[in-house]
Amino acid sequence: MPVSPSRQLAFSVLMEVELNEGYASDLLHSSLGRGLSLADRRLATEIVMGVLRWRAPIDQIIQRAANRPVEKMAAPALQALRMGVYQMRYLTRIPPSAAVDESVEAAKLADPKLAGFVNAVLRRIARETADVKVEEKTDDNDSHPAWLLDRWRARFGADAASAAAAYDNRVPPVAIRATTEALPGEIVLAPGRLLAAARRVVEGDITKTEAYLQGQVWVQDEASQLIAHLLEPAARDRILDACAAPGGKAALLHALVPEAAMVAVEPRPQRARLLRRRLPPTAHVVAADATRELPFRWQFDRVLVDAPCTGTGTLSRNPEIRWRLQPDDAVRLAELQTAIVTHAAIALRPGGRLVYSVCSLEAEEGPGVVSRLLASDPKLTLVSAARVLNSLRSAGVLVDNVPPIDQLTQGGFFQILPGAAETDGFFAAIIERAR
Ligand SMILES: C[S@@+](CC[C@H](N)C(=O)[O-])C[C@H]1O[C@@H](n2cnc3c(N)ncnc32)[C@H](O)[C@@H]1O
Repeated sequence: MPVSPSRQLAFSVLMEVELNEGYASDLLHSSLGRGLSLADRRLATEIVMGVLRWRAPIDQIIQRAANRPVEKMAAPALQALRMGVYQMRYLTRIPPSAAVDESVEAAKLADPKLAGFVNAVLRRIARETADVKVEEKTDDNDSHPAWLLDRWRARFGADAASAAAAYDNRVPPVAIRATTEALPGEIVLAPGRLLAAARRVVEGDITKTEAYLQGQVWVQDEASQLIAHLLEPAARDRILDACAAPGGKAALLHALVPEAAMVAVEPRPQRARLLRRRLPPTAHVVAADATRELPFRWQFDRVLVDAPCTGTGTLSRNPEIRWRLQPDDAVRLAELQTAIVTHAAIALRPGGRLVYSVCSLEAEEGPGVVSRLLASDPKLTLVSAARVLNSLRSAGVLVDNVPPIDQLTQGGFFQILPGAAETDGFFAAIIERAR
């Protein structure tokens, strides 16, 4: 029996994630899925994301049934087992026999010698699974490494940490911003939860529309869009985006102030090329490393530092990150961010504004980096995020029913937790240079 296209895609993606540190959401949209029907792609997505979210309890089930540690299993066998267990334990409409057979076939494609082992372990689990209900097995707290949840509990409290973990296990909404109203009838939109100009796609595949293919629609989380608005740019500003790739916020800034002069920085040549393709030709893309002195004689009115980070605010979109991170990664990335933001701040003109943001919930990133930046230069001061959010609300940039501003701020910073407004988790500090 050949493996079905959906399971073949799911298996290939899980192998890439495991062996080459790939990102599942990129891989699911890559050429690996070319030619598949929408239904097959949806099932593959459900299996991949489910396996990555529920990896810890799934691995416990496998370990018990196989009577050996999962770390000792060959990668194709383990991925096939995870797919099989997820379908049996977490999906209600797949007969166990199909879940077992498909996984055996997937493992066989990689190495025929693995088929017997995968078959034996999954059949054992199938016998045990018959009378276990799905809701008995899904505790959101089991779906994240314990050390990560402990950090969130210590920082935000137990309820907020659990709510964030629960959101990480949901399919996140597809938020967009569009420069056209002309979308086909099968695309059903709902208003944004934060931004008046944003929409959420509630039905239809926006990535297949002409408007998306023509670059008139951008898929971008609403909290991520809001970061660009925190700069409150003016028409003829000089704007520096020091960590610009893949270009979502830079493109939004350009849409807000098309006459502003935009410089977008990215060190890796391939990502710089991607930026050039995605940004308008008037933007200057500079291949430079922002941890070093930046090669500009200009002083900028607005500087954005949307820094590389742990990404712990984006686990609903990128579930694999939770298993890759190590407890000291936040410290390492905070060092990198401090180097970038300190150099970028040198390019900020007196009276200008810098926004430093991360899609992370960790305290070393975010507040820790801001403390070090402010200590490094007495001319830099923190602007209250509540003040800027109130100004954006008065200007009609935020939706009328935006969550109360005190729920979007903490200690003068912008801070939103995953799911608090159906967005990723983000942190931002707004900083000005004294005249
Ligand atoms: C969070 S992403 C930025 C996302 C982007 N602002 C957007 O909205 O599409 C961080 C980016 O920083 C880039 N980066 C990593 N190291 C860097 C460095 N030393 N200097 C500048 N950019 C860097 C990464 O390639 C990555 O694209």
